[in-house]
Amino acid sequence: MKVLLATSKPFALPAVQGIQHIIESAGHQFVKLEKYEEESQLLDAVKDADALIIRSDIVNKEAMKAAPNLKIVVRAGAGYDNVDLEAATDCGICVMNTPGQNANAVAELVFGMMIYAQRNRFDGSVGHELIRKRLGLYAFGSVAKMVAKIARGFDMPVYAYSPILTHDDLRKEGEYGVIPADSSEELFRNSDFISLHMPLLDDTRRCVNYSLLSLTPQDGFLINTARKELVDEDDLIRIMEERPAFQYATDVKPDKHDEFLQKFPKRYFTTPKKLGAQTAEANKNAGLAAANQIVAFFRDGDECFRVNQ
Ligand code: 3PG
Repeated sequence: MKVLLATSKPFALPAVQGIQHIIESAGHQFVKLEKYEEESQLLDAVKDADALIIRSDIVNKEAMKAAPNLKIVVRAGAGYDNVDLEAATDCGICVMNTPGQNANAVAELVFGMMIYAQRNRFDGSVGHELIRKRLGLYAFGSVAKMVAKIARGFDMPVYAYSPILTHDDLRKEGEYGVIPADSSEELFRNSDFISLHMPLLDDTRRCVNYSLLSLTPQDGFLINTARKELVDEDDLIRIMEERPAFQYATDVKPDKHDEFLQKFPKRYFTTPKKLGAQTAEANKNAGLAAANQIVAFFRDGDECFRVNQ
């Protein structure tokens, strides 16, 4: 089988070498397309591929139609909103992700961004500490769990709200010691920092809106290492205009980046490129997991991490 690694934002070399080793040791052919800039390059590369490993690369209906042999797409990472699941099902293609594999890298970045902003970007002025500040986690998947774990070291009370987990579910996760919130409203009301961890779905798009944001303290702090589409940008701009101490730090550059930057140069921060999962360790964890999943799929029909119907 021909396995294509297509990454416009490439993995670190040891991860690529590890993927290649796993694929070739199982008797498959390994090819790669890295740092591509045009969709046409992907359409061309995928045309005789049986399997595809991607990151945030867009795999739409057109890409699937261009790949008549394609049987499996593995998103080496958590969120798979970049893959058209319906089209995949129609084409008989199995789509998987590699849950949890890059969670620690993203969680560490949450703290990196909080500290950077609380210390005024290390400009020498008097900043603030994280200790005993209330942290709210919106959703409670793999990344949020790692954030909760690290937060204990900062002695931060951690609140969590998940639309799909009950209080009992959250309490059962005893090792993370989170305080379950009844609703997203309660979460936003009780938190000094809010960190977003939900996937992008139809019903999570722009779910962080004016009515939720207005419940936070005046000097609230929103951290987004998930997806830009979760936040209603106009509503966030309105809140930041109304509240001179409100801050936004994001690893997913908003569509209105220029406006945020121009209006709130000291209270808005974005990474230049999404880099939550951009560590050697996360690249290796997610990349090797993807390669192993493909090998198991072809060898045993293993569909353990399948996300489409
Ligand atoms: C994910 O969903 O796993 C993260 O957003 C990381 O995405 P990336 O592989 O494009 O960096």
